[in-house]
Amino acid sequence: MSHPRLVSCGVETWKTMEFWIFLLLTCIFLSLIPWTRGQEAYPCPPSEDISPCTCEYDAPSFISVDCTFANTSQIISAFNGVAWFPNLTNFYVWYNDLVTELPEGVFGAVSFERIQLNGVRNLDSVHPSVILESKDRLQQLLICDCLLDHFQWDILSQLTELKFFGLCGSDVTDLPVFDSLILEGLHLPSNRISTFEAGWSTPNIKYLDMDGNPISMFPTGLLDGFEKLEQFSCDDCDLGPTLHSGSFQFRSEALQTLSLTSNGITTVEPGAITGFTADTWVGLLNNEIRELTEESFRPMLEVASLGTGVIQLVGQFPAFKGRCITQSTMKSQL
Ligand SMILES: *[C@@H]1O[C@H](CO)[C@@H](O)[C@H](O)[C@H]1NC(C)=O
Ligand SMILES: *[C@@H]1O[C@H](CO)[C@@H](O)[C@H](O)[C@H]1NC(C)=O
Repeated sequence: MSHPRLVSCGVETWKTMEFWIFLLLTCIFLSLIPWTRGQEAYPCPPSEDISPCTCEYDAPSFISVDCTFANTSQIISAFNGVAWFPNLTNFYVWYNDLVTELPEGVFGAVSFERIQLNGVRNLDSVHPSVILESKDRLQQLLICDCLLDHFQWDILSQLTELKFFGLCGSDVTDLPVFDSLILEGLHLPSNRISTFEAGWSTPNIKYLDMDGNPISMFPTGLLDGFEKLEQFSCDDCDLGPTLHSGSFQFRSEALQTLSLTSNGITTVEPGAITGFTADTWVGLLNNEIRELTEESFRPMLEVASLGTGVIQLVGQFPAFKGRCITQSTMKSQL
């Protein structure tokens, strides 16, 4: 009679043990994952210490700080007098009218892999030391749509991990010769850069975007050192009316696209654009080239016809009614 009771008691005991094992495993598991409160977590500081900046942590080592809702002094107090893990991943401020400067010491002792200041419309100064604080770690730096009228280009040579630099929509006018052995992407649209010189030591540049700068004269020989260039664009650069011989001498076997759209170009001198490959897309869209002179265009077509390359001139020949003109249509015209 007591037998079934014993069995049932055994089951109860086992169930209780199962419960405690479950609880123990749960505790071990919870102790392994970081203690989270919303998106923030150790090693982010307590949110009240850095507000209105916010910090997000993702194991094992992604720590991102967003100061989109802060002003200059709130950023300073978020990083100074607050204990931070020293090596952070991201710092960003997106579309903000409150931040006017990033002064020396703003980030205390922390460094970043990526800094993005995008649409910080009243930002007019970033002290070079703010960027140099991250010199051994910074991989991407983007400063766009702000009031900056000066950038200290020579710091780029000290940023030993910087692969991508973007400065756009600023009032910066100068672009001196600078060095960076590591830089791959240089994104400089919509600044006020008007003159610059050849002689950069940037052998790893793959991507160069200078759209919307009033350049007018592209320095001869600038492209000589760019042997890995894949994409080049200088749309809206006021390069017309004449593209002089030797203006764009590319040296890269890897060149995929080169774009000189909307430059008011009427005349392309022979040898103005050379050194692109049989597979390069050459865009001369929205210019005023009315005549395809044989001396200028035949050598270009000869290169393009050896591969998949395309030379595009759209909307400038009344006879073609804006049709895309490729090497075959051009050939028939020449
Ligand atoms: C920044 O914002 C705080 C809180 O609104 C305010 O007290 C402080 O005066 C502001 N600082 C500046 C420099 O605008
Ligand atoms: C932070 O990064 C630097 C440079 O990469 C490195 O030397 C240092 O050991 C890192 N510190 C920590 C605490 O991870």
